[in-house]
Amino acid sequence: MTIEPTTTQSGTPVASDEHSLTVGPNGVTALHDRYLVEKLAQFNRERIPERIVHAKGGGAHGQFVVTGDVSKYTRAAVFQPGTTTDTLQRFSSVAGEQGSPDTWRDVRGFSVKFYTSEGNYDIVGNNTPVFFIRDGIKFPDFIHSQKRLPGSGLRDATMQWDFWTLSPESAHQVTYLMGDRGLPVSWRTMPGFGSHTYQWINAAGERFWVKYHFTSNQGNAEMDGPEAELIAGADADYYRRDLHDAIEEGNFPSWNVSVQVMPYEQGKTYRFNPFDVTKVWPHADFPLIPVGTHTLNRNPENFFAEIEQAAFSPANMVPGIAASPDKMLMARIFSYPDAQRYRIGTNFNQIPINAPQAPVNNYSQDGAARHGFNPPSAPNYAPNSLGGPVADAAAAGEGSWENDGSLLNSAATLRSEDSDFGQAGTLYREVYDDAAKARFLATITGAVSGVTRPEVTERAIWYWTSVDAELGASLRSNLEALAAAELASSK
Ligand code: HEM
Repeated sequence: MTIEPTTTQSGTPVASDEHSLTVGPNGVTALHDRYLVEKLAQFNRERIPERIVHAKGGGAHGQFVVTGDVSKYTRAAVFQPGTTTDTLQRFSSVAGEQGSPDTWRDVRGFSVKFYTSEGNYDIVGNNTPVFFIRDGIKFPDFIHSQKRLPGSGLRDATMQWDFWTLSPESAHQVTYLMGDRGLPVSWRTMPGFGSHTYQWINAAGERFWVKYHFTSNQGNAEMDGPEAELIAGADADYYRRDLHDAIEEGNFPSWNVSVQVMPYEQGKTYRFNPFDVTKVWPHADFPLIPVGTHTLNRNPENFFAEIEQAAFSPANMVPGIAASPDKMLMARIFSYPDAQRYRIGTNFNQIPINAPQAPVNNYSQDGAARHGFNPPSAPNYAPNSLGGPVADAAAAGEGSWENDGSLLNSAATLRSEDSDFGQAGTLYREVYDDAAKARFLATITGAVSGVTRPEVTERAIWYWTSVDAELGASLRSNLEALAAAELASSK
């Protein structure tokens, strides 16, 4: 084995790995010890800002193989029969910081980047099919309420429940979060959802509304609250380790990918707003249509380069796939690349993990850490008469929808079955069995018992009563029993 000499970042050999340059063996340190200075300065800059949300996570590389035929709904190359596409997937928790325990109760992020022949396509979803709010203007408030009090730096049940109960559109997602879905056994044993409604466009230009589903071939498995708390103390990286070890052992996790498809025109008349991310589409109306299989089969070789620097974004769309009139989705399309310019730098798409396998042709230039350049003969403006790239609407295959109305700040028009609590109640009553219902009641009792303002507790009881009257009554009696026990023990 040849041992190379240590060098500075500029490649010049250095004198010592272990001793600074000093005036005599016991003397003061010389400022012109260029290696010491560089080493300390470089070290101080190892951290980039963590993601403002979904900071703790892990991921792996994989492949997506199309096994079905959805070509009548989308022209996207990534979904054409027989196509195989390289992917990167990242899983995450929403609220906790970088070092937070994986098994704190939370919604889990489920992001997949497809390196398609037409550019990168990202599905940035969760392990639940819905979300807490339906307008992006509330996202910073929602996240503030789930993170930490500005004064004490502590998480706070009162602020969480204050926000949720004043935002009743959260009821469906909170019913998932406080149910078993909030504590998966591993990332491998949970489903994934695109959650939003997206648009697909076929080769003839016909439009459809779609929702993505990833069904785990490992099955769904969850743990209970006490087990999760024990693991949180014993191994904060429980999910990250599980995924890494499974892949190292050749035990490759996979998900079947399917879609629900709604004809374009039906979107205008369906009984509830199909673009509301707090709602699911009933499978009876829109059955799952198989698309393909996604398999994770390769661990990152460098976690920072391949996972921390990965930039997933709902703005990354390919021809034949587009947005929908979902206000959350439209806000996200601005927010992710903006966050990534701040977090990683303006040229984040040139970093190898984000660089597309498809060619990049445009007129952007310069900026910090730019390292991909057009040839000097290439024009840097458009239009030009020098043969530079020209935008092609037909190649872009973008979607559209019709809109009319004056500019206003307003909730979407309500349809006959739009309700904040209806689907939450159905999930609780018809999907949860008796044991799951008992765990659910215990979890919300514990969570609401941490609230310190009586009017917020009362609103929480109203919220769960609106989901299910019996559930609300049980919560009230549980909280009263807890308060009585506390009073007795304090005497
Ligand atoms: C308007 C609402 C939302 C806003 C403004 C928002 C904003 C953000 C931002 C800024 C990041 C960090 C991006 C980065 O630094 O790379 C992020 C990450 C993430 N968000 Fe959202 N988000 C919203 C709603 C949602 C929804 C509805 C979902 C799921 C359906 C979701 C899933 C995720 C996931 C999975 C990540 C982590 C991506 C990764 O693995 O790197 N977000 N979000």
